[in-house]
Amino acid sequence: MARRTKVYEGKAKVLYEGPEPGTLVQYFKDDATAFNAEKKAVIEGKGALNNRLSEFFMTGLNGIGVPTHFIRRLNMREQLIRAVEMIPLEVVVRNVAAGSLSKRLGIEEGTALPRPIVEFYFKDDSLGDPLVTEEHVIAFGWASQQDLDDMVALALRVNDFLSGVMMGVGIRLIDFKIEIGRVWEGDFQRLIVADEISPDSCRLWDIKTGQKFDKDVFRRDLGSLADAYTEVARRLGVLPRNIAAVAKPTLIN
Ligand code: TMP
Repeated sequence: MARRTKVYEGKAKVLYEGPEPGTLVQYFKDDATAFNAEKKAVIEGKGALNNRLSEFFMTGLNGIGVPTHFIRRLNMREQLIRAVEMIPLEVVVRNVAAGSLSKRLGIEEGTALPRPIVEFYFKDDSLGDPLVTEEHVIAFGWASQQDLDDMVALALRVNDFLSGVMMGVGIRLIDFKIEIGRVWEGDFQRLIVADEISPDSCRLWDIKTGQKFDKDVFRRDLGSLADAYTEVARRLGVLPRNIAAVAKPTLIN
């Protein structure tokens, strides 16, 4: 079989050249990292779960008219996506104080925020993805004022959609991170949701018990990450039927 051309490898995913121009294949690894890859592990089954969950969220967003890079899932670990020009920012939306916001501003985790807060982080691992303001984004040419307005609007639509979907299965969307890319259609350009949407990039707490079902389980050593993600997938009805076989291969004599 011909070897595919690897376009990019990140901490949790690999991108390969797609079958047609303007497409890529996104492969979800089982690798988990935290604190800028200071903490690492391989979590069997995570890649398959995130592939399914990102498909579920992106398909739902496409369905309500929020454009995303997702075209279709190819197999357990891979999906076909549109190639985009990535904006070098992480866009975080927060509904409830947690994580770095709680630490930076001394607000107790779990405090409901008066309104959703949108933040931008400059994507640069060597700098530890620093928080930046709109002034930095424009001054350094990472995006235009129009892009910023479009990114905030996109992020808030994603927030409304994800909050509602998660609320429907008894889970509170505390915060999440998305990445956004630019696509060209003739002379026109528009911004679309790219990368992934999964429990790797959200905080998800059980509404009744407060139990965490996201990557904080790994960051803070709270238990089994695979079990947490499986619970999210189970509640959303997107669990692949043979996930147990994926997580625990058995030898056939
Ligand atoms: P934070 O509280 O650590 O800034 O994280 C905010 C949200 O962004 C949280 O849902 C986790 C997500 N996130 C990522 O997806 N990637 C990252 O590298 C970081 C730091 C956070």
